Amino acid sequence: MTHAIDTHVTNDVAIAAGALLDGDVVAFPTETVWGLGALATDPLAIAKIYAAKGRPNDNPLIVHVASMDAALALFTRWPSRDHAETILRSFAPGPITVIIPRPAHLPAEVSAGLPTVGLRIPSHGVAQALLQAVGLPVAAPSANASGRPSPTTRDGVLASLNGKIPLILDGPRGELGLESTVVDCTGATPTLLRAGAVSVESLRRVAPTIKLLADAEAQARSPGTRHRHYAPTCRVHLATSDTRSLPEGATYETSAYIGLTAPSAVESYRLHRICNSVEHYAHELFEFMRLADNAKVELLVCERVPVAGIGRALMDRLHRAARGGSSPSP
Ligand code: TXA
Ligand code: MG
Repeated sequence: MTHAIDTHVTNDVAIAAGALLDGDVVAFPTETVWGLGALATDPLAIAKIYAAKGRPNDNPLIVHVASMDAALALFTRWPSRDHAETILRSFAPGPITVIIPRPAHLPAEVSAGLPTVGLRIPSHGVAQALLQAVGLPVAAPSANASGRPSPTTRDGVLASLNGKIPLILDGPRGELGLESTVVDCTGATPTLLRAGAVSVESLRRVAPTIKLLADAEAQARSPGTRHRHYAPTCRVHLATSDTRSLPEGATYETSAYIGLTAPSAVESYRLHRICNSVEHYAHELFEFMRLADNAKVELLVCERVPVAGIGRALMDRLHRAARGGSSPSP
């Protein structure tokens, strides 16, 4: 049982780096979503992440480092390591995570006992400054209570972790709003485990053999995608742009709407957000889910988008939120 603790907010990178080096957890912004960091080399610090999030202990963490040199220092020798290096060199710093064999100096706790580990170099200025000040790899899942949408604002972090973590390093909102793309680079063929901010189309340009998995297989290989995810408290309904009437039993007064095109009754919804591009929709989705929950909305109606570019990741998150489960197909 964890007791409530005071959660402080700071803009001081040195204070946040000191807390991490002391074995505490610290939330920090990245260009995708906020992370909840702990020293990746410290099993006790890692345990605090799982406790604060209520995260199932079979769900591995992503390790964050500041630079390509720091990333390559975590590479061991394995037959297909060129894929991981090529993908990192093409998209990092940025919203890409490569799964590589876990080096001996990272404890098994960081990847829930798996022999592999996720590796990412974030581009957000505050995340970069923090990682440079720490000088060691920082494990960080999204900074939400397990199962809930990832936070894209400081208030989103507070909504699920206030009283459970000691420190938040504040900073500007990231430009993307959905999590990194996760690619397994341990085998002969790079394999997409989680659609994300780096599109499959751009990955194919540098890794033409990249394999997409049916959801069941992705779930077997990426424990995080197995668990309930990205779900607000309210029900989520997916709508196509030509059938955007409310499902039976729902009322406008207790519903919210987000999408690219406004349904005719858009003003009748309790809350609505019309986005000007799929990128904008991806950027707004998780924060809008939080605002909908805050407003005690019962139903969130989300317009579907084509499965292309960041639309693939957006539809993946929408399917999981709507079904409390999985995405239908690659
Ligand atoms: O954008 C992001 O990736 C954010 C920011 C904070 O960097 N992080 C994030 O972490 O979304 P998390 O823990 O919420 O999601 C990590 C995903 C999970 O689906 C997890 O199962 C998968 O990556 N993953 C991590 N390590 C893995 C491994 N060794 N093998 C397979 N999947 C792994
Ligand atoms: Mg997460």
